[in-house]
Amino acid sequence: MKNHDVQTIITALGGRAALQALLGVGASAVSNYLARNELPQRAVGPVCEALRARGYRVDPARLEITGQQFPAAEGYHASGDSKRVLLIVGGGIAAYKALEVARRLQDQNIGVTGVMTRSACEFITPLSLAALTGEKAYTDLFSLTDEAEMGHIRLAREADLVLVVPATANLMARVANGIADDLASTILLATTAPVMMAPAMNPVMWGHVATQTNHATLIRRGVEMIGPDDGNMACGEEGTGRLTQPEDIVTAVMARLFRQEGALAGRHALVTSGPTIEPIDSVRYIANRSSGKQGHAIAAALAARGAKVTLVSGPVDQQPPADVTHIAVETARDMLAACEAALPADIAVCAAAVADWRVKPGNSQPAGKLKKQEGAVPQLQLVENPDILATLSRHSHRPRLVVGFAAEAENLQANAAAKLARKGCDWLVANAVTRADGSSVFNSDSNSALFLAGNKHEHWPEMPKSALAERLADRVEAHFA
Ligand code: PMT
Repeated sequence: MKNHDVQTIITALGGRAALQALLGVGASAVSNYLARNELPQRAVGPVCEALRARGYRVDPARLEITGQQFPAAEGYHASGDSKRVLLIVGGGIAAYKALEVARRLQDQNIGVTGVMTRSACEFITPLSLAALTGEKAYTDLFSLTDEAEMGHIRLAREADLVLVVPATANLMARVANGIADDLASTILLATTAPVMMAPAMNPVMWGHVATQTNHATLIRRGVEMIGPDDGNMACGEEGTGRLTQPEDIVTAVMARLFRQEGALAGRHALVTSGPTIEPIDSVRYIANRSSGKQGHAIAAALAARGAKVTLVSGPVDQQPPADVTHIAVETARDMLAACEAALPADIAVCAAAVADWRVKPGNSQPAGKLKKQEGAVPQLQLVENPDILATLSRHSHRPRLVVGFAAEAENLQANAAAKLARKGCDWLVANAVTRADGSSVFNSDSNSALFLAGNKHEHWPEMPKSALAERLADRVEAHFA
């Protein structure tokens, strides 16, 4: 398929790696496309979809970008009443990237008001931010001039969205604990607008239990996180903690700003999440490493769009998102019973890692502890658990849209296609158990997937689990539109 300019499309997608991931091809294939200035026919669907997700209008016949699809692009300068982002710049080495975020938001005709913490001013100057936004950059809670011009409450309230770039461990900790000791933290406590944070810090700081607890608290309170990404850090270390690329931050912000709140109002969504655990005796059990991060993010994304969400989850550390009905279960049979009791539903998303087997009755000892006996090892016999996804797909009260997940260790596409047919669901989101770098998708903060709908499929590149949840919610929304 000929198209206007493969390089333009690659740039709009976020780079060569993004196209590679989207099409599941290597670097040499992309070099060929560039040399021929041509993409294969099979690329049209996924590329158009990805470009639209990044806010572009696309002519699929010519695979040509024809403009921006976000409504603000047309409205802001002309009417002056479009969207406004309050950009809080935290004090980290990545602070300079906030300038690019500000510039790119303005390219989308989004008004930007800048606020900087005291330590952010050690990395970039308020003057640079002011020059880019065309407005004063606010820094001081106690500046009478600022208060006279625009009090902090008004600053907090006038924004359509508050964005923190970079969100440092310190700023996240203060906000999670309700500390309001400077302009940035006071705004974050006083705002009623949606808050998005793009964390960036040293990988060890990111992994510290204190940061992870604060992160979970903020998510539970409705803060949407963008990243952080994996990679080499400015400090020379490698791991999770890198600021998400400015263009991806802007895409996430645009999607949030123009998300149709309430698009799924009146719909009931049933979501399963986490593992099931199958007792061997009253203290031992069979389980798996599912953390509930993916399923809980999907529940949050659907609830944010107005759906009434019932989240049935096995034992996880994740807090259930606000505004969902949470039913905690342990075994596969409990999960099935809870799901059936929650019907009717319009949508079912089965993201739980349900144990395929449980210990055969009579072989387990539910009310006690199997006694260790010298020289005798218990021989556990297993029996098959009910299949919740297949049961819901063939139920007399079948939800109109049934979505399964598949965790595959090999032959992702072939196994996922077979699973889609076998289970009878409408869509299947297949993720590889082990990623290219050897890490597991279980308990990870990010995910990539092969999305199957009927006989069509798309590659969804590596992204935070919350972003994958939003992408799935976009599909659900479109399905019911
Ligand atoms: O929880 P996280 O740490 O965030 O990890 C997310 C995840 C990897 C668990 C998630 O993205 C995922 O892949 N969930 C499905 C895992 C799984 O059990 O895959 P499966 O291929 O074994 O099962 C396929 C589908 O059948 C799933 O929708 C599963 O919920 C469902 N199933 C499986 C067995 C069973 N007895 N009943 C079911 O309903």
